[in-house]
Amino acid sequence: ESAAGIAHVYRGTFVHATYHTAVEILEDRLLGVDTEGKIAFIGSGKEVDRLSQKWGFEAFAVTQLGQHEFFMPGMVDTHIHASQYSYAGTALDMPLLQWLNMYTFPVEACYKDLEFARNVYTHVVKRTLRNGTTTACYFATIHTDASLLLGQIANDLGQRALVGKVINSYPLVRPVVTPRFAPSCSATLLGHLGEIAQNNDLHIQSHISETKEEVSLVKELFPDYDSYTDVYHRHNLLTDKTVMAHGCHLTDGELKLFRETGASIAHCPNSNISLCSGMLDVRRVLNHKVKLGLGTDVAGGYSPSMLDAVRRTLDTSKALTIQDTQYHTLTFEEVFRLATLGGSQALSLDENTGNFEVGKDFDALRVNTDAAGGPIDLINHGEGPKVESNLLASSGDDRNIVEVYVAGKRVVPFVERP
Ligand code: GUN
Ligand code: ZN
Repeated sequence: ESAAGIAHVYRGTFVHATYHTAVEILEDRLLGVDTEGKIAFIGSGKEVDRLSQKWGFEAFAVTQLGQHEFFMPGMVDTHIHASQYSYAGTALDMPLLQWLNMYTFPVEACYKDLEFARNVYTHVVKRTLRNGTTTACYFATIHTDASLLLGQIANDLGQRALVGKVINSYPLVRPVVTPRFAPSCSATLLGHLGEIAQNNDLHIQSHISETKEEVSLVKELFPDYDSYTDVYHRHNLLTDKTVMAHGCHLTDGELKLFRETGASIAHCPNSNISLCSGMLDVRRVLNHKVKLGLGTDVAGGYSPSMLDAVRRTLDTSKALTIQDTQYHTLTFEEVFRLATLGGSQALSLDENTGNFEVGKDFDALRVNTDAAGGPIDLINHGEGPKVESNLLASSGDDRNIVEVYVAGKRVVPFVERP
């Protein structure tokens, strides 16, 4: 039981994933958040009198959700390049390795200028928060000062974040060891980074097997290793705090290594399609019992919205079904889980965030399906929370995310600081 006092109580529908079901719908619940931002209790709305006595809050102070409203957990973007937000959607006309040289590396060089960095990083944190990303796992650039600034901006605006390359310790922000990918590192460098991660128990992020050309390049550069995955593994870079983006072309043997080490995959479908990199078979990854979350991969992906990542994940899975009618398409419920609890597990942050469980931080989106200039409602398909959460995923946008909470604190709408 929480020792801290109750700061807020919300009554209404809560939709979330659990450890054993994809989507659980809790109707007419009362959820209390303590002064530390943690979920203190979840009870029945009918028991408001008993709970208010037990927990010492006034029944009239309860925030009551409206008819078309529900809370869902904040979404977890397991892979996003904050530095590439400046050109998102403007340059997707070549394959990965050319694209990196032509657009990405020149833009990233600009982050030696702190004012440039402040401008882009403020925009990307605000934009993703407004779109419901309560936790983001960011790539920054090689510039220490600009990376520190990204951590400060995320913390000040109230977003939970992992930031690579370098970061101070803030309550919401942690560092993540970030080798860009094997082709840009020597074996010696990878070895040092593995050591740093191990000695300090740090998160690790990188890219793996995004395109076939990249896989061939790694084979050429690292001829003495069994596979791309083996290059990271032999330098202690595959741990249960590792998240690797893409993994489109991993073999069964490599997925087995992911499973054994507890490393996870960030599936970034917008990027994989935009750069024509590959079609990750998410079902196959899940069958291997490898942890998987969703990522936007801005700016290989052109959208900073996790709702877009949800849609592209479903589309990619359906495209696989068109190719092979025996394919077991991902369900909406499974993908909702990947965007929330699945992502927090992929980042090994699920002790703190990912769903509504007593003791976790209250990282939540207040959704109103009636908010974007009229109901995104279907006369023929009835109402109710199941329909409402499906509607958000299929045709909702940031206008339907009316409030965002991180660690109990409302962070959207933005509060201008004095
Ligand atoms: N592989 C190495 N660097 C990058 C990057 O910036 N974006 C993507 N999509 N893949 C990469
Ligand atoms: Zn990336």
